[in-house]
Amino acid sequence: MARSYIEFVQTQNVDWELQSDGSEIKRLNVDPVDGEETYIVRYPAGYAAADRGLEDRAEEYLVLDGDIRVGGRMQRYHCYGFTPRGESAGGRETEGGATLLVFRYGRSDPNSASGASEALAVDPATLAWDMSPSVAHIAHLRLARKVLRLGPNDSSRTFLLIGLPHGIPDRPEMPAEIHDHFEEMFMLQGEMWTPEGLIRPGAYFYRPAEIVHGPHVSEAGFFQIMRAGANYVRTTWTDPLPLPIGQPYAPKIPEGTPAGWTRPWSGGGAF
Ligand SMILES: [Fe+2]
Repeated sequence: MARSYIEFVQTQNVDWELQSDGSEIKRLNVDPVDGEETYIVRYPAGYAAADRGLEDRAEEYLVLDGDIRVGGRMQRYHCYGFTPRGESAGGRETEGGATLLVFRYGRSDPNSASGASEALAVDPATLAWDMSPSVAHIAHLRLARKVLRLGPNDSSRTFLLIGLPHGIPDRPEMPAEIHDHFEEMFMLQGEMWTPEGLIRPGAYFYRPAEIVHGPHVSEAGFFQIMRAGANYVRTTWTDPLPLPIGQPYAPKIPEGTPAGWTRPWSGGGAF
């Protein structure tokens, strides 16, 4: 079973669920068969947990808030980590509390298993932005990237992406995009206009392959974490479409999505 198409929800609208260890979780998207999953987890101040043993699914995370020691390493604001399936992440403890965005890979995914993938712990603040120009269709966004992880066998790419403010083309139309791989996004800061409405901090989408999406423009600029199901985003372009500035919120959500997830949201804060 594949993961569902959801584009987009403001995760502020998703309720926290208390877990048995005292942490709280917002489950955003899951494949119930293979266990591929994306969630936000909030560890309370003073949380401490022993090593939970070998992971049955690779775990990839970005610290959204606070700091947490994972396997003995202090991971602060926006630090990134990856533990392959079949390896241990070590214990985790936080003095002041921490909130993590977590991506779990599937239980049967060969590319995120120990041997195929290596454990990573990175402070992205130490990486340089790749500011090489984008293709002409999206040059108006003035994009820069920091690649956090490239999965083996062209399986995935996890990266931070920024676009400068005033990212509007000097024409009233531009093409939309199609990829032959999934894309997934969490908005850390800023805003982006889409045909589904205005993405704000805390917005999330999971978009399977072959979904037509965009055009995208940004008046305020943006900072997001993205995942793609390939090492390099492969795009085919549609005929030009009107720019989506001012589009009302019109999310594409799977059947059974709680009604509260799609409440209009215009507040600040990412989670
Ligand atoms: Fe895309």
